[in-house]
Amino acid sequence: MENQITTNMREYLKNHPALKFLFFGGKGGVGKTVMAGATALWLASQGKRTLLASTNPVHSLSGLLDLEVFGHITPLPGIDNASAYEIDTRETIEKSKKDIRDKINWFLRFADLQLKADEFVDAATLNPAFEESAMFENMLDLMFGEEFDVYVFDTAPTANARRLLGMSKIYSLWVDKMVRSREEAKSLRQLLSFSKKEEADPLMDYLVDFRERMGHARELLTNPELTSFFFVTLPEALPIAVITRFLKWFHDFGIPVGGIVVNGLLPEGDPEKTPEFVRNRRAMQAEHMQTIWKLFDGDVRALVPLFETEIQGIAPLQRLAETLFA
Ligand SMILES: Nc1ncnc2c1ncn2[C@@H]1O[C@H](COP(=O)(O)OP(=O)(O)OP(=O)(O)O)[C@@H](O)[C@H]1O
Ligand SMILES: [Mg+2]
Repeated sequence: MENQITTNMREYLKNHPALKFLFFGGKGGVGKTVMAGATALWLASQGKRTLLASTNPVHSLSGLLDLEVFGHITPLPGIDNASAYEIDTRETIEKSKKDIRDKINWFLRFADLQLKADEFVDAATLNPAFEESAMFENMLDLMFGEEFDVYVFDTAPTANARRLLGMSKIYSLWVDKMVRSREEAKSLRQLLSFSKKEEADPLMDYLVDFRERMGHARELLTNPELTSFFFVTLPEALPIAVITRFLKWFHDFGIPVGGIVVNGLLPEGDPEKTPEFVRNRRAMQAEHMQTIWKLFDGDVRALVPLFETEIQGIAPLQRLAETLFA
């Protein structure tokens, strides 16, 4: 245990030149959005066509950048290679609802059931996981789109990628089973109707397509050359506990962890001139830093001080980037 950074952000990215998907996660309010923003600006300055994208339903990129980026990929004015985007789940959710309604209706007709799709649609879409999975779908569209060299994702405090990837394992078992029973139903139907012609089967197409998408997503998200999750924490007990849990999950799912960014460190100062309140907080931070070194040791990538003001606008983000990539 050395209590110092062995591989910093800049070195880490240098050692991972093909990195394409960077994620910033952590507890609420720890600085995920500003770190993602600063990282995107830095990558853009290195000549990579970069998209900074928010998958947090409570978006804050537009506010951070003083630029309306909700629902539209928007180039940052005056900055080469950088665009920003807040994923609009309303559109995705409406589209998914329609897709689901169409598929359920098709299935009800197929099965000759005199039922209305609406109840099934409500049951499926009132689930809070529905918004999350709509967000995930939308994120995958971006990732598969290949429009940019690098994607920096500002994520929600919940580790949605982890949960959805975990679910995708269960999904694929389920989809396999569905596909098999669809095949059986289809051949039975053809047998009974003495019809030899192939019928269109949108449900089957959907299932097969879904399985393929999830498989592709898992390939990208578990490839350590392409993907890295960075976790942001403050030198405080709760955010440390949160990322400790995340790290374990990510490890279990084989999702590559890029490292830890410690944010909000109080700068050193003359103790004589420092108010007791600040001295106490500094002492608390020093104690939690011991835990951080103990738990995360070689994974710590940066120590970012608390700036004298909040970080808002492109110039302060660039200043943060200089610290993050010092
Ligand atoms: N090092 C810092 N110095 C000063 N202010 C900071 C620093 N890091 C973050 N902030 C400020 O703290 C607030 C929270 O940061 P940010 O929005 O990036 O957190 P977050 O983790 O994305 O929050 P949420 O979970 O709500 O999305 C913002 O007002 C930001 O400007
Ligand atoms: Mg945020």
